[in-house]
Amino acid sequence: MKTALIVLAAGQGTRMKSDLPKVLHPLGQAPLFAHAVLSGQALDPDRVVLVTGHGSDAVAKAAEKLGLDADIALQAEQLGTGHAVLQAEPALEGFGGDAVVLYGDTPFISGETLAGMADARRAGHDVVILGFEAADPGRYGRLVMQGDALARIVEFKDATDEERKLTLCNSGVVMADAATLFDLCKALSPDNASGEFYLTDIVGQARARGLSATAVTCDEAETLGINTRAELARAEAMFQAKARAAALENGVALMAPDTVHFAFDTQLGRDAVVEPNVVFAPGVTVETGAKIRAFSHLEGAHVSAGAVVGPYARLRPGAELGNGAKVGNFVEIKNAELGEGAKVNHLSYVGDASVGAAANVGAGTVTCNYNGVEKFRTEIGARAFIGSDTMLVAPVRVGDEAMTASGSVITRDVPDGALALGRTEQDIRPGAARRLMQMYKRAKAKRQKG
Ligand code: UD1
Ligand code: CA
Repeated sequence: MKTALIVLAAGQGTRMKSDLPKVLHPLGQAPLFAHAVLSGQALDPDRVVLVTGHGSDAVAKAAEKLGLDADIALQAEQLGTGHAVLQAEPALEGFGGDAVVLYGDTPFISGETLAGMADARRAGHDVVILGFEAADPGRYGRLVMQGDALARIVEFKDATDEERKLTLCNSGVVMADAATLFDLCKALSPDNASGEFYLTDIVGQARARGLSATAVTCDEAETLGINTRAELARAEAMFQAKARAAALENGVALMAPDTVHFAFDTQLGRDAVVEPNVVFAPGVTVETGAKIRAFSHLEGAHVSAGAVVGPYARLRPGAELGNGAKVGNFVEIKNAELGEGAKVNHLSYVGDASVGAAANVGAGTVTCNYNGVEKFRTEIGARAFIGSDTMLVAPVRVGDEAMTASGSVITRDVPDGALALGRTEQDIRPGAARRLMQMYKRAKAKRQKG
């Protein structure tokens, strides 16, 4: 059975009080809508259609940047959830299989829940709705059940007092055969309290046509939708709590879990150790047994087994640390590979570079990679020793087992095994320091008198 995801993401989200469309606000450092697409991956979808409206171009760009491989269906005017779903029809022309409707502002629907809905479809139900028992049903649509069958969904605004007492509510997630879903949506009318094409009305439509409908339920926490910045902040706390719990469950040691911040795609291996106050931005993988020490910030980085990062280190995109490599305090690594056992322990910048296995980069070393216009690479060979405070003016190569003297400015390649000295020779003037001091003191005394 093929599956297509239809993610509704056209709304502006007025209550966010933001110039940014709601679905582009970040949760776990991914735009909100991406979480719905990622949940949907549990169904191994063949197609993904994003229904966009407000900020459509920006949403499309964000989807591309994340490699989501989604088609964009523009809903120029937001005429309701049923109308929104229908906009996905042209993109799914020729597609045969199930469609799953998700909301771009509802990030926590679990893969297991979606799998449960797919089971209900396989059991023969034509339309499957995801419902939940609401602690406070508020303005949610209500599910009107007839035994195990779902008779219809009534929106709060259109509900009678009796119907408003129902606590089984509509999450918005719908699963049905795609062609059937579009057919049902075409029959919708905006003849209701909001004057909108309600997706929820497809249930009544389906039943009238002799099709079956049922509801699968999930925990209310999964259906949390984001409408305000306060809700987004709460969702972020929930996201972080879940990510921390999952890391612990997978065998990661978190010394102070509440102080470690995860991104949506952070991958930490078994027996990795994370000290307090570490931030993972997107694209980080830490292999088994690696240690991320306190106050480090990692983004787009791969840390191999047994490597140590920090305290106070920054790994930027393209940082690739080999097994047992060490990156110490106040060191920044960008777009650079460190070979097995290589060390950059103190106060250094290594960017656009490769550092060979077991090389040692001394304190205060800088790869001078940028001339203000272009960037250039630095290569450091295996077992090379870079003296403290070496400026490596790229493009430049320091060979295997080569050395640079402390304080050198290296502008030319250093052959394998060679020593490069790039600093002025030391000059000793006996007694000159004391004489200089006396001279300064006399000058100060003279000024104070006069
Ligand atoms: C909807 C459901 C309601 C359910 C609730 C759960 C309908 C008619 N009602 O109500 O039963 O309890 O969600 O949160 O479906 N959207 C578009 N284009 C549109 C309209 C909406 O893309 O024309 C998107 C919105 O951006 C949002 C989602 O669809 O992400 C839901 O729309 P919203 O207007 O918030 O629906 P509710 O009134 O909350
Ligand atoms: Ca809503």
